[in-house]
Amino acid sequence: MGARVLLAGNGGREHAIAWKLRQSPKVDEIFVANGNAGTALVATNLPYQPKDIDGICKAAAELRIDFYLASMDDPQPLGLVDRLRAQGVLCYGPTQAAARLESSKAWSKDFMVRHGIPTARHATFGAYAEARSYVESLPDGPLVVKASGLAAGKGVIVCNDHRDALNALDIAMLRRDFGAAGDEVVIEQRLYGWETSCHAFCDGKTAVLMPFISDYKTAQDGDIGLNTGGMGVYSPSARVDAALTADVVRQVVEPTLAGMAAEGAPYNGTLYPGLMVTEGGVHVIEYNARWGDPETQALMVRLESDLFEVCHAAAEGRLHEVDVRWSPRPSVGVVMASGGYPATYKLGHVIEGIDAVDPDVQVFQAGTKQDARGLVTNGGRVLCVVATGDTVEAAREKAYDNVRRIHFTDAHYRKDIALLDSGAH
Ligand code: AMP
Ligand code: GLY
Repeated sequence: MGARVLLAGNGGREHAIAWKLRQSPKVDEIFVANGNAGTALVATNLPYQPKDIDGICKAAAELRIDFYLASMDDPQPLGLVDRLRAQGVLCYGPTQAAARLESSKAWSKDFMVRHGIPTARHATFGAYAEARSYVESLPDGPLVVKASGLAAGKGVIVCNDHRDALNALDIAMLRRDFGAAGDEVVIEQRLYGWETSCHAFCDGKTAVLMPFISDYKTAQDGDIGLNTGGMGVYSPSARVDAALTADVVRQVVEPTLAGMAAEGAPYNGTLYPGLMVTEGGVHVIEYNARWGDPETQALMVRLESDLFEVCHAAAEGRLHEVDVRWSPRPSVGVVMASGGYPATYKLGHVIEGIDAVDPDVQVFQAGTKQDARGLVTNGGRVLCVVATGDTVEAAREKAYDNVRRIHFTDAHYRKDIALLDSGAH
């Protein structure tokens, strides 16, 4: 009998993971708490939000779940993996202690310093007055102010000078725009360079890197506008070569796994360090203790191995036994969002044209649901259209050709995803 697998989340990432798991002959059933209209096409949605870990644990027992694959950030810091393991469920994902790599920026920055992992210089403050005096004590210049806790992809303010930085402290610590995530702030040196996302399968001791991905974070073309969860991706990142990959393994991934194990919190699950490559080499901007969204969508279409087999082996600490193979064909994912995202936007617009996309193009749904009118928008990022090609340019053309077949009122998407001569990526 095959496995009964549980996911928690409701993004395009969860649709892509469920879609890939569905292809495994070793998987019988897939359940998603709480999912979206896309996950409902390949799995059974459960009526529990990802943070409702009591509900999820109860459902896991009732549904005789035998494997949990952690994908999003919310449940692990609440201890979902620890509790499911205690119930006898095999888990691929970090424990509460290991998830601190993402859930506390203050902790993760100190961790990097303890283990010599390259990152921007920083200081942490729990009190506004001290944070303010610290900024005022430095020579005026660029800084980054970060709420320490989880802030749904927000909570980072990149500042050009001290006036901006003092304003950012007001926003995080006095106005408390990021809620409790801003109880503590990290103030760090601003780095200049280019960014890439690294994902690795980890089993506590060993890591296997996935292809690198470039993510387009801002809402508008030309990398302007507000920061979003990600408006598009392509993989592999054009500027990552073998030497940089070796640096990332030696300077970031291996010391992270060794450090976590030495501190009694071995890291199991997907580790996704956000990296900035500067003139001085690679630096960790932040750790994510999960899969990226939409990075995962671009990865799943390129993974040739059985995702369940790989994650199952990692959960059992035997990642070295599996062969993780990727298609050499690049992928490009373009996010279609609700007009106005990431600020305010309307829900409930009918989505048309998904049935008109090419059979070899995937539409991974995020903010969608079914109502009496059919498929409607139900979130900021609505869906991600992912195509592959012989080259990034071919994949890009195919993705956009298919994006243009999908329609909903006020749909917004960037036109410059994977445009390699745009410079920054
Ligand atoms: P995060 O939400 O932590 O991924 O940060 C959002 C973005 O802020 C990153 O993708 C970077 O572009 C930027 N950022 C964060 N930290 C720094 C830093 N120390 N120097 C320059 N940019 C940064
Ligand atoms: N796309 C960025 C993230 O998942 O954090």
